[in-house]
Amino acid sequence: MKNEIEEQYEFMDKVNELNKGKELKYSIFTMGCQLNENDSEKICGMLEKMGYFRVDDTTKADIVVFNTCCVRENAEDKLFGKIGEMKRQKEKKGTIIAIGGCMMQEKHIVEKLHSSYPYVDIIFGTHTLHKLSEDIYKILEERKRIDDVIDIDGEVYEGLPIKRVDNIKASVTIMYGCNNFCSYCIVPYVRGRERSRRPVDILNEVRNLAKNGYKEITLLGQNVNSYNGGENYKFSNLLYDVNKIDGIERIRFVSPHPKDFTEDVIEAIKKCDKVCKIIHLPLQSGSSKVLKSMNRKYTKEQFITLAEKMKERIPNVVFSTDIIVGFPGETEEDFEDTLDVVKRVNFEQVYMFIYSRRVGTPGDKMENQIPEEIKHKRFDRLKALVESGISVNNQKYIGTVQKVLVEGESKNNPNMLTGRTDSNKVVIFEGTKDLIHSVIELKIVSEHMWYLKGEIM
Ligand code: SAH
Ligand code: SF4
Ligand code: F3S
Repeated sequence: MKNEIEEQYEFMDKVNELNKGKELKYSIFTMGCQLNENDSEKICGMLEKMGYFRVDDTTKADIVVFNTCCVRENAEDKLFGKIGEMKRQKEKKGTIIAIGGCMMQEKHIVEKLHSSYPYVDIIFGTHTLHKLSEDIYKILEERKRIDDVIDIDGEVYEGLPIKRVDNIKASVTIMYGCNNFCSYCIVPYVRGRERSRRPVDILNEVRNLAKNGYKEITLLGQNVNSYNGGENYKFSNLLYDVNKIDGIERIRFVSPHPKDFTEDVIEAIKKCDKVCKIIHLPLQSGSSKVLKSMNRKYTKEQFITLAEKMKERIPNVVFSTDIIVGFPGETEEDFEDTLDVVKRVNFEQVYMFIYSRRVGTPGDKMENQIPEEIKHKRFDRLKALVESGISVNNQKYIGTVQKVLVEGESKNNPNMLTGRTDSNKVVIFEGTKDLIHSVIELKIVSEHMWYLKGEIM
């Protein structure tokens, strides 16, 4: 019997047959996180197999795909704005409009699309992405709108075509979904429960990438360190095995959860020479009280102790983090706890967010919501603190030798090359183009807030 994916390949062939000789084009908007971007690479893979060519100019496209995110509110207005703009093109050219991704798992959004944007052709969810080819085939054959959203956890499908955006760095999704239900977060509702890919499938994908010249791999999941490959094969086992693959020079992973940094994971990070020693350690809040109501499962003290323990065990480790300001009930004192942790841990990079109410989450139902004005003021204070630390932190690079993966010419100055350190800092330097895509050692000579300047040794 054919499996689901083999069936989908048949639909890709059928659409390809229908499109033959027509030189059809597609555009895609990717609105979410790295997992969402990785999904888009699969969507592009399917579309190209169906005979569509990618264009940036949406007005030239015969099919436009929106891959949505709903983790924060502003994405909704943005999507509806863009779909509104598509109306005339749809009427004039008959462009196929397909909307997928996390936001489509929200009933109220789909209802709004039905009532206000009836010209949308395909609505697909996070569990039905692999069926896009079938949906497109049906649209071409039957011309009636398709809703393909299911509410049960999708299976882990292997073998979809993929068209990657980069040719040196690649993302590899290792698990889908999330079980943590942090009280502010919509992800568990739109991505379902945790499902891990089999180790053999992940390792084969990475080996293939290495064969095709990829140097840097980012392992992706909403909670990567709770990866469960079966038969006691855990995230640490995966790190050791990916570390062994020849050709791969750097391994990164996002996002881990502080509660799952078990001893074996810390040990693996230390022992695997290719694992970059910048670790994402999402704090969210520095107040134990807020953390409890966020359902994060650690206190301020436990977080600091974990960071200190990792600093002790892993030489030269640095951290990046995510922080939310203005969660319900956050007092001035709670917020100061957040500032305190930021000062004490000295993060290399801080991604800051203003709390956004999400329908269906416990946070949305909490009574003590923080007024917008206070949220914004706190955000600005946190931002000022983080930015005041950047330059001081950059100073410590000056005079050091850093391994840099050379990515290409600098966008602002084509006579210079650009690359990134292990710790993800941008380095600009003078060099010949043959260095592109190699890992070289550079001496850091100066810092410029958002980038460092280096010299070949
Ligand atoms: N699974 C990842 C994060 C996924 S979402 C993790 O646990 O780290 C990425 C970030 O968006 C979160 O870390 C959080 O800081 C932020 N975020 C999630 N929900 C949010 C909300 N309702 N409002 C504001 N920021 C939010
Ligand atoms: Fe959201 Fe928390 Fe899951 Fe991350 S761990 S996706 S923040 S529920
Ligand atoms: Fe957004 Fe979905 Fe990622 S909600 S952050 S695209 S998992």
